Amino acid sequence: MAITQLVYTSRAACEINDPILAAIQDSACRHNEPHGITGVLLYGSGLFIQLLEGPLEDVDAIYQRIAKDPRHNDVQIIYRTFASERRFPSWSMGVVNMESTRVELNVRDLWDEIDLDAITNDQDSNLLFRLFDAFQKHVEMPTPN
Ligand SMILES: Cc1cc2nc3c(=O)[nH]c(=O)nc-3n(C[C@H](O)[C@H](O)[C@H](O)COP(=O)(O)O)c2cc1C
Repeated sequence: MAITQLVYTSRAACEINDPILAAIQDSACRHNEPHGITGVLLYGSGLFIQLLEGPLEDVDAIYQRIAKDPRHNDVQIIYRTFASERRFPSWSMGVVNMESTRVELNVRDLWDEIDLDAITNDQDSNLLFRLFDAFQKHVEMPTPN
């Protein structure tokens, strides 16, 4: 069955630190898994970028809730498609803080290379997915029971 992939960007509306990201990840673990939603959330330089993937109605519902969160604003969908497979099947939400020193320089370069305001074509969205892929190895997720 085809799933929906939605990517949005937003700007932090308050100081974002590891405890705040941990709280977001906690919410995501509780709400995303029961709805079959997986994805990844990146934070850096005051910007969020998040990929949500799952059944269309569930992705839309969780997105509507996230978009109202006062911890960020200027929330904009930059990419949306149907796909036959998930990119992050085992993550209810992988969260990566770009400010963390564990992130390699080349991942930062990739982040800088992407013009988040101008992701309108396939070439740019490939770059986007390269970025998400590059982050996979930086995410430590609890192993499922
Ligand atoms: C950038 C950002 C990403 C978020 N991602 C998710 C998410 O993937 N899933 C989720 O349930 N909540 C997410 N949240 C939190 C929701 O906006 C909301 O606070 C939460 O779902 C409320 O549920 P709770 O009170 O049970 O924690 C996110 C918040 C922010 C600021």
